[in-house]
Amino acid sequence: MPIFELFLLLFFAFIALPMTVSIIFSTVKLGISPMPSSNKANHAMMQLIDETEIETKAGPIIDLGSGWGNFVIAIAKRYPHRKIVGYELSYLPWLTSSLVKKLLGLKNLTLHRQDFYQAELPSSSVLVCYLFPQAMEKISNKLPLELSGVSFVISNNFALPGWQASKIIQVNDFYKSPVYLYKISKR
Ligand SMILES: C[S@@+](CC[C@H](N)C(=O)[O-])C[C@H]1O[C@@H](n2cnc3c(N)ncnc32)[C@H](O)[C@@H]1O
Repeated sequence: MPIFELFLLLFFAFIALPMTVSIIFSTVKLGISPMPSSNKANHAMMQLIDETEIETKAGPIIDLGSGWGNFVIAIAKRYPHRKIVGYELSYLPWLTSSLVKKLLGLKNLTLHRQDFYQAELPSSSVLVCYLFPQAMEKISNKLPLELSGVSFVISNNFALPGWQASKIIQVNDFYKSPVYLYKISKR
């Protein structure tokens, strides 16, 4: 067999196929693929982070499901004075974002390969997410948002059931995504 064809075969068998299977497996298990937010949605989320910075006293920003790291890496660069945390269960996206974090030397960014429902929610933190309706329902019911002292939740595209958004930015991207800001009052 010619060397190029052998190379292609080995690449497909040992790299492309396992990567695809791994992503399909975690997408089915978690109910969502690691698709990143659009650039315009990222800008809207950053605008909301800027607007809430004084109130949170520059508290930690936590991405619930950080995917390939597009958003956490952008905000770790933009807010070098703030602690940025990402939780991601899908192996390849987590590995890729961890490698990029290392390459860029982003010391304010921590990436956990962990279920965000078990995440530590520090006081004055801002939670950011781009998930799906059932996950938003679960976040609303299961995460102790008020008790933990989370200050704000920013959600791309999906509303947080049971909460009234204090601001909604209608993004002019392909999906016409609304980006929601929720202020969480302490109990
Ligand atoms: C649509 S992506 C969003 C990526 C990134 N936040 C962004 O806005 O570009 C959602 C990610 O959440 C992850 N995810 C879903 N449920 C999770 C869970 N319980 N714990 C950790 N990650 C989860 C998925 O694997 C996926 O990568």
